[in-house]
Amino acid sequence: MSGKTYKWVKVAESEAELDFGANAIAVADMDGKSICIGRYKEGLFAFAHKCPHAGGFFAEGFIDALGNVVCPVHRYKFNMQNGRNVTGEGYYLKHWPVEVRADGVYIGVEDRGLFGFF
Ligand code: FES
Repeated sequence: MSGKTYKWVKVAESEAELDFGANAIAVADMDGKSICIGRYKEGLFAFAHKCPHAGGFFAEGFIDALGNVVCPVHRYKFNMQNGRNVTGEGYYLKHWPVEVRADGVYIGVEDRGLFGFF
């Protein structure tokens, strides 16, 4: 994260407000765009709503035992923390840092990327 500046966007008043469902993946609104927030081992990870391969909805996928999000369409897997396509198809998952603060859940968007993050 060094050297990057972030604009922190509030997506929920608290972690409890996010609806993680049975698959531990919640959909949140970040400045008018849908994103996913996955919960794994008590950590929260924000990433794109749609799969970079062919647009599958990650909210309908699941998180595997290693903390990768698995797309429901062709089952490509992505590391939620660094966006790496761990099954090796060569795609990259957009992802953002998450901070849970006393007054809400925030997503860090790189300043320069604010209008081009999709
Ligand atoms: S659309 Fe996600 S793996 Fe193909």
